[in-house]
Amino acid sequence: MRIKKVLVSGGAGYIGTHTCIELIDAGYDIICADNFSNSSPVAMKRVEQITGARIPVHRMDFCKLDEVEALFREEAIDAAIHFAGYKAVGESVAKPLMYYENNLLSLINLCKAMGRNTARNIVFSSSATVYGLSDRLPLTEETPTEAYSSYGRTKLYIEEILKDLHAAEPGWNMSVLRYFNPVGAHPSGLIGEDPADIPNNLMPYIAQVAVGRLEKLRIFGDDYDTPDGTGVRDFIHVVDLARGHVAALRKLEEEPGYTVHNLGTGKGCSVLELVHAFERVNNVPIPYEITARRPGDVAANYASTDKARRELGWEATHTIDDMVRDTWNWQSKNPNGYRDATE
Ligand SMILES: NC(=O)c1ccc[n+]([C@@H]2O[C@H](COP(=O)([O-])OP(=O)(O)OC[C@H]3O[C@@H](n4cnc5c(N)ncnc54)[C@H](O)[C@@H]3O)[C@@H](O)[C@H]2O)c1
Repeated sequence: MRIKKVLVSGGAGYIGTHTCIELIDAGYDIICADNFSNSSPVAMKRVEQITGARIPVHRMDFCKLDEVEALFREEAIDAAIHFAGYKAVGESVAKPLMYYENNLLSLINLCKAMGRNTARNIVFSSSATVYGLSDRLPLTEETPTEAYSSYGRTKLYIEEILKDLHAAEPGWNMSVLRYFNPVGAHPSGLIGEDPADIPNNLMPYIAQVAVGRLEKLRIFGDDYDTPDGTGVRDFIHVVDLARGHVAALRKLEEEPGYTVHNLGTGKGCSVLELVHAFERVNNVPIPYEITARRPGDVAANYASTDKARRELGWEATHTIDDMVRDTWNWQSKNPNGYRDATE
């Protein structure tokens, strides 16, 4: 079937905003729905500025079934890309019920509301965290899954829920995308990652040290069995990641079913390599200190990208230098994220 109108849940967030742009560029009509629990309405204004499109934005909570059903009554939605959810691993361990409630209920409500539709196409944001502590690299879609945090378990459980639903009602088409480490920002510098508190992830932390909001970076361990001793991860530019969603939608149109794909670059980059690339490309010093390893961190992980290349016809094209340049372009133009915006 031809997909025309796409609901982007959590569309005002970091990955959602970048995906809205790529969807509009690819010719889809989009609707954004977000409760702004971890984002700003300004981000959607910026997406409109970049694309020149008028985007319907619904302020709503996917945990409230009546709100989700009302949206589906109002709009003829052909597909949903489901970004809405909480994503901080550490917080999920401290507040498991909050994570299970928000992540599972929002997905269940979306599926309930969609289930009454003739068009039942969904793309779901999963994560490489479902590979747990596996050290068999690269991580393929066949690598056994296990989770070590409440957050990781919400992703695993949702994958299982979707699989069960697909088995029970074959009218569903589902694309599960397992993201590696999204970083970078749109090259305009108008949108980017804007953590509400102290960043949990490496790149926004580096960016906030660079801009003077944080004093120095802490690197957790330099005694791993990796070339420079620091952890190795598969960093992927958020624009490449966003384009992966367009490729996934096209695949659903051509070949319905239930599929799982990794979205990564297939290349490992160490924490220190990323820090040094940031300093070199942007000419900004990043003071750092080495501290103890963090429990639950693996030495290295990176994706096998074969399946996404073969089946989605998609692969990442941005380099580490692109990632650090675009991050700094966003952060230096918006030192306090969207908080200082006047629009
Ligand atoms: N950023 C990463 O490193 C990463 C990695 C793997 C997977 N993911 C997944 O990708 C998705 C998007 O991540 P992101 O980095 O853009 O996060 P984000 O927090 O920037 O975006 C999520 C958006 O969902 C909204 N939201 C949360 N709960 C909601 C609810 N109940 N109803 C309506 N809106 C709600 C938030 O306000 C936010 O705008 C998440 O599901 C996340 O778990 C992210």
